[in-house]
Amino acid sequence: MDELRQKYLGAISEVADEAALEYLRVQAVGKKGEISLKMRELGKMTPEERQVAGPALNALKDEINSALAAKKAALADAALDARLRTEWLDVTLPGRARPQGTIHPISQVMEEVTAIFADMGFSVAEGPQIDSDWYNFDALNIPEHHPARGEMDTFYMHRDESDNRPPHVLRTHTSPVQIRTMEVQGAPLRVIAPGRVYRADYDQTHTPMFNQVEGLAIDTDISMANLKWVLEEFVRAYFEVDTVELRFRASHFPFTEPSAEVDLRCSWEGGQLKVGEGDDWMEILGSGMVHPKVLEAGKIDPAKYQGFAFGMGIDRIAMLKYGIPDLRAFFDSDLRWLRHYGFSALDVPTLHQGLSR
Ligand code: DAH
Repeated sequence: MDELRQKYLGAISEVADEAALEYLRVQAVGKKGEISLKMRELGKMTPEERQVAGPALNALKDEINSALAAKKAALADAALDARLRTEWLDVTLPGRARPQGTIHPISQVMEEVTAIFADMGFSVAEGPQIDSDWYNFDALNIPEHHPARGEMDTFYMHRDESDNRPPHVLRTHTSPVQIRTMEVQGAPLRVIAPGRVYRADYDQTHTPMFNQVEGLAIDTDISMANLKWVLEEFVRAYFEVDTVELRFRASHFPFTEPSAEVDLRCSWEGGQLKVGEGDDWMEILGSGMVHPKVLEAGKIDPAKYQGFAFGMGIDRIAMLKYGIPDLRAFFDSDLRWLRHYGFSALDVPTLHQGLSR
């Protein structure tokens, strides 16, 4: 029996395929296999011999059967392994070409500005790009023959002579969104309104379409001090530097009283702009306390409420922050320019992760 055990266990362990294993199974434990023949010999034995040989033979049969089963499983595993190796697929290969597009610096800056003001409790308001001249001018205390109308180089929408609807314009600034927001939200309110504006003007620093962001905060206890703090906070966060210096210069806008233009300390050494140092000043925005007539136009009681407002050129602050020398390139859609100055779509500007990375 020991001989049989060694013979078959040895052979089973060396078998290389399922056909050879099946052949061994038939030879050992098949109906006419060696173990089965030995079983038949039990009948010729004495009862005493049989009591020893019977269980031993059965145990041997079990042992060989389980060796056969184990080998069968091992062969199946190896076959599967071999198959997986030939059908191998590299899932790390890129399925698609990387996206070529980038986020335009204007969109990036709008997101940055929105993130900063959102952190100070401002929400985003919108208005139409084609607006009536009442929203664009009259409601903002710029009456019909006010010189500010002439200065704006306004695009007027065409009207047939028989058409007596009120005149409409391509908005020349984002300030009309102030009126629309007051009408809808009432006081108190705190919004910024980024968007496109239009003026008939074209040279290295002017394009007929450009972008502004308007700011408006109205409440019962708002002062110039709040305006100053909010703007300083904004400029520091936006330029991502600790030291920025602002200069509030008395000015005049029809829709604010008093009014101030705000300049930013900078240097232009070697044609390279640096913010927060140097002896130059760069105008970045207009601002002031909302004129009582403007509050009235927005159906807000000027005896009860005051507010501050500001308007800032987005293209200008984008050029300043990202060192973009020519405004006109913003609107050329030149792919090489966009690849150079554009931003990754996945790097969404937030205050906690950083505005620009
Ligand atoms: N609307 C002005 C412009 O386009 C900018 C401006 C100045 C907006 C002062 C304001 C402000 O809200 O208070 O030139």
